[in-house]
Amino acid sequence: MAELRVDLAGVKLRNPFLLASGIWGESGESLAGAWRAGAGAVITKSIGAEPRAGYPNPTVEVYEKWGMLNAMGLPNPGIEEYPREIAVARAAGATVIGSVFAATAEEFARLSARMAEAGVVAIELNLSCPHAEGFGTEVGSEPEDVERIVHAVVRAVHLPVIAKITPNTANPAGLALAAERGGAKAISTINTLRGLAVDTTLGRPVLAHGLGGLSGAAIKPIGLACVWQIFEKVHIPIVGVGGIRSAEDALEYVMAGARAVEVGTAITFEGVSLFGRLANGLSARLDELGFARVEDAVGVAHRAAG
Ligand code: DHB
Repeated sequence: MAELRVDLAGVKLRNPFLLASGIWGESGESLAGAWRAGAGAVITKSIGAEPRAGYPNPTVEVYEKWGMLNAMGLPNPGIEEYPREIAVARAAGATVIGSVFAATAEEFARLSARMAEAGVVAIELNLSCPHAEGFGTEVGSEPEDVERIVHAVVRAVHLPVIAKITPNTANPAGLALAAERGGAKAISTINTLRGLAVDTTLGRPVLAHGLGGLSGAAIKPIGLACVWQIFEKVHIPIVGVGGIRSAEDALEYVMAGARAVEVGTAITFEGVSLFGRLANGLSARLDELGFARVEDAVGVAHRAAG
């Protein structure tokens, strides 16, 4: 069977399938469940400085065949409370990556240092939530801001820093290069795309917040294009995200340049048992194609494209 273990910026993953941030709840027990089901690592819900209740309902609109639109409002218990959830996930043996969101570089650095103390193996910076006032894309859309934020975090922690880059930009590779200059050890891309659904009977947006983030199968080609463009420009590893629900989807991302992938919406639809099926499926498909290891397939589509 093909080797699924990958090294992501020095972090050893038992397979390349990561639980995406914000999926499957925020409790330590739910993260532990995803780990037990076979995830290569689990990424926490994005955590901020203070407890946040999030937006009122409705927060999710499901499109059965192709995805969903959500605006949760970054609900989380805050960084003072959250380490106890990480402890629960770690007690189950999980490899935990801590996701943080903040309004300033200083706050990102402080939250990341606190996350590091809680025992995570890497920090993922949410520079890409498409609808939260003062956070996400509002601080992650300009290369100078991305470089400054990443640099502040890199100075504050000894762990690998992963910058999660938005697809809501003309130049994703420009943002990834800025993160690399700032000292990021990996890029994850994409986050959700800004979207809207309208209830025509009520004559108002479906989600209470109005704008939301689109995820799921519909966004896979966009995620692949971002990974493809970034792979051509940056040297640090890429984590591919967006619309992955099968081993074949994951292998597309790997061949486009991803060393690992995050799975989100498909887990909310199918449950964490999907992780086992993805790992087995990828191993079998790599065998079929004659790749001994996932790492041998990273970026191969670029060679073919010349
Ligand atoms: C939320 C955060 C995100 O980063 C995202 O992509 C979608 C939703 C949220 O908590 O609302």
